[in-house]
Amino acid sequence: MTMDIAALRRDTPACASVLHFNNAGSSLPPAVVVDTVLEHLRREATVGGYEAEEEAGERLEAVYGSVARLIGAAPDEIALVENATRAWDMAFYSLRFGPGDRILTARTEYASNYIAFLQVARRTGAEIVPIPSDERGAVSLPALDRLLDERVKLIAITHVPTNGGLVNPAEEIGRRARSAGVPFLLDACQSVGQLPLDVEAIGCDLLSATGRKYLRGPRGTGFLYVRRALLDRLEPPFLDLHAARWTAPDRYELRPDARRFENWESYVAGRLGLGAAAEYALRLGLPAIRDRVGALAERLRARLSEIPGVTVRDLGERRCGIVTFTRAGEDAAAIKARLGAQAIHVSVSTAAGTLLDFEDRGIPDLVRASVHYYNDEPEIDRFVAALTAPQGP
Ligand SMILES: Cc1ncc(COP(=O)(O)O)c(C=O)c1O
Repeated sequence: MTMDIAALRRDTPACASVLHFNNAGSSLPPAVVVDTVLEHLRREATVGGYEAEEEAGERLEAVYGSVARLIGAAPDEIALVENATRAWDMAFYSLRFGPGDRILTARTEYASNYIAFLQVARRTGAEIVPIPSDERGAVSLPALDRLLDERVKLIAITHVPTNGGLVNPAEEIGRRARSAGVPFLLDACQSVGQLPLDVEAIGCDLLSATGRKYLRGPRGTGFLYVRRALLDRLEPPFLDLHAARWTAPDRYELRPDARRFENWESYVAGRLGLGAAAEYALRLGLPAIRDRVGALAERLRARLSEIPGVTVRDLGERRCGIVTFTRAGEDAAAIKARLGAQAIHVSVSTAAGTLLDFEDRGIPDLVRASVHYYNDEPEIDRFVAALTAPQGP
């Protein structure tokens, strides 16, 4: 399917005023997402929050179906939460570890996940084992094969690391996790909305994601997928009267579905906006989105690598829409500020996000330019021109 980029840009009003290459931070939402959120907020102001939620009952229910379809899951395997970190934490802290148990992860793992590993390792005596990377920076499958033994109680991997376009081989990892009978938690925060995801094909048991990045949903939204077969074995770390029912003075019963990982109060307008964003992505088609985003990113990498002093830093045989680079003589924060003054948006990746990877590679802070399908080729030209423009005295 070819995309009508001009129409998609018209449907993203901010394209007229900013050159937004910060889609891995938070992308520009399409009009339908903004309208959906605003309409619900207005309804809350008009009839009251609980009443507006009741009115929206069927549409709210439908959000679970939309999110489930994005990743090939069933609606009862989805919990809607406030961000990817909370989704991931609810899954991770439900698992039980003891002394000597091993958690396998990647050397590009995201800081928040790694900090949680460290906390649990400190509490329980479990061991964190980062799987060595292959020569292109992705999780090494032969190294994973060597590490998979009876001590391994979890494989937790970030699909697309925060600091580059590298795509880890999730399906190959999932196959190995399945045959070893080890739960597989996939952090799909940066891949959802830009890559086709299918939890069956990937073979993950748990998957966490956020709304605001490539999915183009509202901030303050995210979701967790929990494979039905695992659900009964997982007790969430926090419970409330939504996650469980108080059935007798000394008893409670967990909800039977993945909503046991939610809590009662929620950002209702945001959930509706998340549903609209999921439907929007599904209508365009994730394979078409992946192809468009991947082609734009490759074009940007090619242009950047022609510039003297610029080094493209993102690794991986398979790469997606996130492009990271450095420029000799100008640090990443200065580049971000200089471009920002011209309404050109990038972000900066630092060691605080992926410490092991920064230490392994000995790299400085990186400029992260992350493209989406609604970006276009003239924007890449403008970006390169602004980056290389001579600066005044
Ligand atoms: C790989 C990865 N995982 C998790 C997160 C956290 O997502 P959230 O901010 O929605 O909690 C991020 C955010 O940048 C990320 O890059």
